[in-house]
Amino acid sequence: MSSYSTLTIDLRQMILAIETAVSQVGMNDTNHGKRVGYIASQLSHQLGYSEQSIQFAFDLGMLHDCGVSTEQMHSSLVNHFDWSDAHIHCEIGYRLLKDFEPLAPFAIPILYHHTPWRELKELDISNLDKRMANLIFLSDRIDVLAAAHYETDILLAKEEVVKSIVGYSGGYFDPVLVDAFQEAERSEAFWIALESRHVTRYVWDMGQFESSERLSIAQVKKLSLIMAYIVDQKSPFTAQHSARVAALAKYLAGTYGLLNEQCEKIEIAGLLHDLGKLHIPDNILEKPGPLNDLERSIMNQHSYETFEILRHIKGLNEIASWAAFHHEGLNGAGYPFHPRERDLSVEARIIAVADVFQALVQDRPYRSGMPLDKVLENLNAFADQGKLDPEIVALARQHADVCFNIAQVEARQDGENSLQLFLQYDG
Ligand SMILES: [Fe+2]
Ligand SMILES: [Fe+2]
Ligand SMILES: [Fe+2]
Repeated sequence: MSSYSTLTIDLRQMILAIETAVSQVGMNDTNHGKRVGYIASQLSHQLGYSEQSIQFAFDLGMLHDCGVSTEQMHSSLVNHFDWSDAHIHCEIGYRLLKDFEPLAPFAIPILYHHTPWRELKELDISNLDKRMANLIFLSDRIDVLAAAHYETDILLAKEEVVKSIVGYSGGYFDPVLVDAFQEAERSEAFWIALESRHVTRYVWDMGQFESSERLSIAQVKKLSLIMAYIVDQKSPFTAQHSARVAALAKYLAGTYGLLNEQCEKIEIAGLLHDLGKLHIPDNILEKPGPLNDLERSIMNQHSYETFEILRHIKGLNEIASWAAFHHEGLNGAGYPFHPRERDLSVEARIIAVADVFQALVQDRPYRSGMPLDKVLENLNAFADQGKLDPEIVALARQHADVCFNIAQVEARQDGENSLQLFLQYDG
């Protein structure tokens, strides 16, 4: 049965999924990372780089903003040419990737992707890292200057964009890269390809190239942890939520009697289940009161967004559906797919119980975290109403103290520390 086969996932497809997840923070403009990947790969081509370097530049462009979790940070980055707090997301992105071997080569260029060339060239890092970091800075700023014009007057506006980039040659950007940009931008095609319809198609085509790197189940877990960190960072109220849900779901799966590898896959689904929350506006996630109908309707789209992010990854289909079904009820009252009871897998039911359990334990903007007896009371009521599987709820009740401990959020620590702690998580 395929569920028990070893997981091997193509790295390129995971990179695309990270970009899709992070791009959700852009709300109305979700193609910034794709365009930076496209521009960086076009300029690399213009510079005569090897095929491998062109692919690297594309992946780097796709990943460069993985340190951005909030709308507020996203909009500051795209609305200011040189934002004084830009270094924060560079550092977060660097720390997220530096210890994960398949993505570690992207860490240094991400750390310096907002460092002006005049400073960068003096740093004690490799020339390749300097070149790649500055290539992304340049591609990123080209996109920021051009973004308002893509679907309309880009061929008229491009001259202004070029003029302003050329003005920064030698200061912000390596003159060699600016020259390559001036060569590449001469063709209208360079600009037209940046329209949403075309750039999404370009990325789709790039996704068909399999990378040489295959991830094992342990590596997929590590990468899922990185993605969980990105979504959990979005709000103080969701800090560690995904990680705690994952650990709890894995524990419940074990006590249910599922095999080890199945438990690990459930853990991965737990880490990824709320990725779609990156698409929810910060003010809805943090509203200190009940959501109104419109806000609720937006909130309830997040598990579909999770599905959309994950479903394209070959080999991850089961995990994608377990993650995406975490708000489905046995009685068909959940959202957004309404599967029949018999189509709701035990894995999805376990994640649903773990999700509710953890959410009840944790503070929310409109209430504080509940003690164990209240948590169990609520779980029982949800089981009675057909929202949660009574068998899994009974299991959680039987092991209530252990579950309660696993669901607890560790005391909040800021900066490097909390990220290191998070990445050392071992469910
Ligand atoms: Fe960016
Ligand atoms: Fe959710
Ligand atoms: Fe959740």
